[in-house]
Amino acid sequence: MTLQPDGQGRLRHLLTLDGLPREVLVGLLDRAQAIVDGAGPAPAALDGEAVCTLFFEPSTRTRLSFQRAAQRLGADVLNFDASSSSTTKGESAGDTLRTIEAMGVRGFVVRDGAEGAAAALAEVAAPGTAIINAGDGRSAHPTQGLLDMLSLRQAKGSDFSGLRVLVVGDVRHSRVARSDLHALRTLGAGEIRICGPEALLPAPEEMQGCPFGHDLDEAIEGVDAVMMLRLQRERMEEGLVGSLDAYHRGYGLTAARLRRAAPGAVVLHPGPMNRGVEIDDEVADGPQSLILRQVANGVPVRMAVLETLLLRQ
Ligand code: CP
Repeated sequence: MTLQPDGQGRLRHLLTLDGLPREVLVGLLDRAQAIVDGAGPAPAALDGEAVCTLFFEPSTRTRLSFQRAAQRLGADVLNFDASSSSTTKGESAGDTLRTIEAMGVRGFVVRDGAEGAAAALAEVAAPGTAIINAGDGRSAHPTQGLLDMLSLRQAKGSDFSGLRVLVVGDVRHSRVARSDLHALRTLGAGEIRICGPEALLPAPEEMQGCPFGHDLDEAIEGVDAVMMLRLQRERMEEGLVGSLDAYHRGYGLTAARLRRAAPGAVVLHPGPMNRGVEIDDEVADGPQSLILRQVANGVPVRMAVLETLLLRQ
């Protein structure tokens, strides 16, 4: 991805974790961990800056944690509401970007249902503007991938070489899965398995060489981390999955299933959860769940990203 680094190889936009150098990825995680540990940013590090959350799809966690992160850095936050914006009168995303740039905004956090939407804005952005992909279709959700890695590191240590990770569910429609797979590969995870119904797995070449299968009871044996995915009904054709009950029987993470994983295995889910479908309450709210820690880590991770992109310019 040539749009991400500037001419000096520094990160200018964050569009994907695919191809992001290991030292950049680890640097962002280390900075986020330092923030967690109390080494906050310089007071009002982004004083005078403004960050716009440009979301064309709904969000709770990503939008609010970017807002919180920007506020903690002293930046102003502009919250673009697509449904009441001039895009409803036909204004393009590019013109929307240029309009908000003209107000002195340099940071844009972009979510869109179309793959490549954030990259398309990065192509036309002014030289000092930073675009952060907050999820584009099925393609990428890089800050979710980062916060998932930070949560895994905190639970299992930063050496991933012995880590066995299982990604479960609707991989086909999941930008989170793609970003997680890229990050796990870059960080050298020992073993990455994928499991889901045939209709919800992507083409084998999209699974980055990971072994995959359709039997969750078999796939979960001995893994150290289970990354559950949301069933993305808004992105799938009718009839791709049978009943939700049948999905739960085959691919729901129950306490009994989790007992087949390694002792101390952890459970992640990016949210929002379909409780009782891909994950049971007992697991989601149980002692092995990292789900709320993932949410909490969203703020320092996004602070680290905003600092990196906006402080250097
Ligand atoms: N995980 C995630 O992207 O959640 P939101 O859709 O609530 O932002």
